[in-house]
Amino acid sequence: MVLILTGMTNPALDDVSYDQLRQLVGLVDHDASADPFPVRAMDAVVFIAGNATQTAWFYQVAFGMQLVAYAGPETGQPGFKSFVLKSGSARFVINGGVRPDSPLLDHHRRHGDGVIDLALEVSDVDKCVRHAREQGATILEEPHDVGDEHGTVRRAAIATYGETRHSLVDRSRYSGPYLPGYQARTSTITRPDGAPKRLFQAIDHCVGNVELGKMDYWVDFYHRVMGFVNMAEFVGDDIATEYSALMSKVVSNGNHRVKFPLNEPAVAKKKSQIDEYLEFYGGAGCQHIALATNDIIATVRAMRAAGVEFLDTPDSYYDDPELRARIGEVRVPIETLKEHRILVDRDEDGYLLQIFTKPVGDRPTVFYELIERHGSLGFGKGNFKALFEAIEREQERRGNL
Ligand SMILES: [Fe+2]
Repeated sequence: MVLILTGMTNPALDDVSYDQLRQLVGLVDHDASADPFPVRAMDAVVFIAGNATQTAWFYQVAFGMQLVAYAGPETGQPGFKSFVLKSGSARFVINGGVRPDSPLLDHHRRHGDGVIDLALEVSDVDKCVRHAREQGATILEEPHDVGDEHGTVRRAAIATYGETRHSLVDRSRYSGPYLPGYQARTSTITRPDGAPKRLFQAIDHCVGNVELGKMDYWVDFYHRVMGFVNMAEFVGDDIATEYSALMSKVVSNGNHRVKFPLNEPAVAKKKSQIDEYLEFYGGAGCQHIALATNDIIATVRAMRAAGVEFLDTPDSYYDDPELRARIGEVRVPIETLKEHRILVDRDEDGYLLQIFTKPVGDRPTVFYELIERHGSLGFGKGNFKALFEAIEREQERRGNL
């Protein structure tokens, strides 16, 4: 059996080892030899922002990310600015339009700040595109080489939900800081003494919100086009409160390195959080990105100190004797979880700690999850009700429930 030991020799992982990743994002063994569309990892989450300069600053200050590369007018790209940020194996790219006729600004007018591209690192771009085309996928960019003095990157892109794409990137013959056209840059921000080296090490999952009735269409798309497998599904009472409901199914690549939950709204008494997203984003798109940390307490403390706002969890969540019975022993006392409003869930494989930010932009669309896994491969099913009630309280405050 051939196992994909994704990333063992991948310099993009920096100092996050395969064993660390296995714990951080819950990897499983996988036979890659029969995979029609072998995906190694997330290559980058690519955003469009109304002000990329300030958004890149936000992620450096509030999320502790390091600036590693830049492209823009000063590097021979007159139309846009693009900032490449890293935290462990996670890479964010923040793009903004410079000239008034920039197509990035048209996209921003429609959707606001958000994710335009969930870029995937693959070992054989041509093979993946061939398979995707046979399965009827829309090819946005045919396979092609781009190069500079650091080598050659082979890339292509396929369409997914809404106006989101998956770039496919093979950077095995490239040693530059990101892609040809980018120059190495470093952060000019001075971190406080004693600040953690970084606040997260990897991307755990990226969630897509799709229109009512479209979840199964996109689950099937990831099965057929990209050879993804089912990980979990949450329907019916799993995922409903008194007022609002959604359905969710999770697909992943073979070794679970790349996990894409897909949500659709479900009919309920009031407007679901998914309906709110679809209305304000202007269609289907990426809803939240879960960041894997090995010390969620330190991460939350640092992010709060930088002004990041998290969803609140009521005291009753922590004082419920059923919670204490359900979760058993975890690495920190419940009082500490309560102090930081961190949620905890346990399943047959282990437990996880998680917390969710409020939306980070003007529109009630993109937000973040922090997740610290201890064996659990789940998504915090036991917390859905408490989480959705917290989201409803925020929706109510925005007048969108
Ligand atoms: Fe999540």
